[in-house]
Amino acid sequence: MKFWLYLPANISHKLSAFGIKLYSFFCTKKKLKYNSLTWKNLNFFNPLGIAGGVDKNAELLKQWPKLGCGFIEVGTVTPLPQKPNSGKIIDRNNKELSLWNCMGFPNKGLCHLQKQLKKHKQYPIPILINIGKNRETDLKNAYTDYIKCMDQLQNYADIFVINISSPNTENLRDLFLKDNLKIFLQNCLQNKIKPTLLKISPDLSQTELEHVLNVSCIVGVDGWVISNTTKSLNPELNFPLNKGGISGQALEEKSKLQLRHSIEHLKKINKRENKLIISVGGINSADKIKERLSIGADLVQVYSALVFQGPSFFKKIYKNIKKPLL
Ligand SMILES: Cc1cc2nc3c(=O)[nH]c(=O)nc-3n(C[C@H](O)[C@H](O)[C@H](O)COP(=O)(O)O)c2cc1C
Repeated sequence: MKFWLYLPANISHKLSAFGIKLYSFFCTKKKLKYNSLTWKNLNFFNPLGIAGGVDKNAELLKQWPKLGCGFIEVGTVTPLPQKPNSGKIIDRNNKELSLWNCMGFPNKGLCHLQKQLKKHKQYPIPILINIGKNRETDLKNAYTDYIKCMDQLQNYADIFVINISSPNTENLRDLFLKDNLKIFLQNCLQNKIKPTLLKISPDLSQTELEHVLNVSCIVGVDGWVISNTTKSLNPELNFPLNKGGISGQALEEKSKLQLRHSIEHLKKINKRENKLIISVGGINSADKIKERLSIGADLVQVYSALVFQGPSFFKKIYKNIKKPLL
């Protein structure tokens, strides 16, 4: 077990940026090329990136390409800076390789993110920016927060990711409801300049998922990130039961099933082509990456695997990805 896993989750979380900086200091710059992809003129020299929430404020931009990421997603950013939810916000189950979090988009806000991104002209890998709404913005006006983020960050994003799937901002997931989704997305995308993906909740039923995909296609969403953390909290994991979301191994099957359903449905309605699908949830090895790609994902992301395996994860994958599936 890695030494930081003996520390309480909130302490190791606070130390993680320092650990990544230290580790990457000793890395030589080398592109880890495998399963390359070009989509809308963006080159992904490998399909593995960091998920939303890992580098919320884009504070490790120098480090990610050195570690071997094929792309990054920064944020979730909201127009105004905001603090985390009160009380416990993160927990870890080392045996089940799973995390629980109830963060609620803590971030330094749009202006700070813009400053960070401005420092890096010609970033070597594609940058996705994950955008959200401030806690105080009501649902009816939520789209205005998303538009603010897109307007101000359009010169720095290769792709935007609309996040309405976090379980940790009150009522946010209501934007997926039938009466809300179409008008919300239409409002967000009225002046779309950059390709825009929608990050999906793993807790949607199959019918709800199909509806979300249909509406996304109608309004011009360019793809999906499948999926965010799950609210179906398993008592055996010993996490707080009444709030938060679960990631890591405990999310794997749900996220995989949702990827499968999404691909099947998109093929059925003839909308798979030209759309970008990023699979995330419980991926922690080269075999699992290969599995998601074989189901039909274009790219994959990780969060929990970095927590449990540390920053050498990308190199380990590179070493193992060419081996036949176990
Ligand atoms: C501590 C923590 C914070 C997260 N913050 C965000 C976030 O700000 N925005 C977002 O879209 N997803 C966020 N996520 C969800 C991840 O991006 C990802 O969808 C989820 O963790 C599943 O991937 P994993 O099993 O590899 O961790 C967060 C996850 C964790 C564990």
